[in-house]
Amino acid sequence: MADKSASRGPARSRASRRLLIAVDGPAASGKGTIARALALHFGLPHMDTGLLYRAVALNLWRWGSDLGSEFEALRACEPLALDATDVELRSEPVSCIASAISAYPSVRAALLERQRQFAQQRGGAVLDGRDIGTIVAPDADVKLFVTASPQVRAERRVRELLERGLPGHYDDVLADIRARDERDTKRAIAPLKAAADAILLDTSGLDRDAAIAAAVRLVQEQLGQT
Ligand code: CDP
Repeated sequence: MADKSASRGPARSRASRRLLIAVDGPAASGKGTIARALALHFGLPHMDTGLLYRAVALNLWRWGSDLGSEFEALRACEPLALDATDVELRSEPVSCIASAISAYPSVRAALLERQRQFAQQRGGAVLDGRDIGTIVAPDADVKLFVTASPQVRAERRVRELLERGLPGHYDDVLADIRARDERDTKRAIAPLKAAADAILLDTSGLDRDAAIAAAVRLVQEQLGQT
């Protein structure tokens, strides 16, 4: 008879071992790119949790709802059509609404369970957002906190918007990034902050490939794979 305890012993295969990676950071810091690349590298599913907040924001925007009402924002959490290819999800108005409604406790609670379930799946996952290492997955095996200067982030976001065919003006985008940083770090519930055990990665001077290589190296070091 097969030894069922074998899969729980120290010699269990890498595939059966959980690897949960939390990637947090401010807007346009490169966390999404890094999280996607880590997922690919380690063969894990990936969730961009910002998309959930953006989908709620897009509902409100399309319904013409009162943007200052927590009740309306909570109503907009269902149904949540998550079409990652919808370019409007990435537009500046939707980014601003997402940042505003993400401060509502009832909205965060409504979206939390879905994120936790994703994080707790067998084998693990990579999630990126603002509160993954602190609230959604405080038990993550590796936590990265990705930063970059506001100016570098604004340049990246403008490039990204233009590539998507959306309008993007540097001064407006920089002002929006500063405003979102302020809101995201100062809100009372689940503010943007590095977990005490997070590893900091400043991507200001790194291009895409260098940032990804640095992130992979940091995760491997943390896992004792180097
Ligand atoms: O891509 P970018 O960093 O600009 O934003 P995002 O990750 O798509 O998140 C959009 C907004 O959702 C942010 O400004 C946050 O206010 C909010 N958010 C959050 O509060 N918690 C998360 N885990 C993810 C996003």
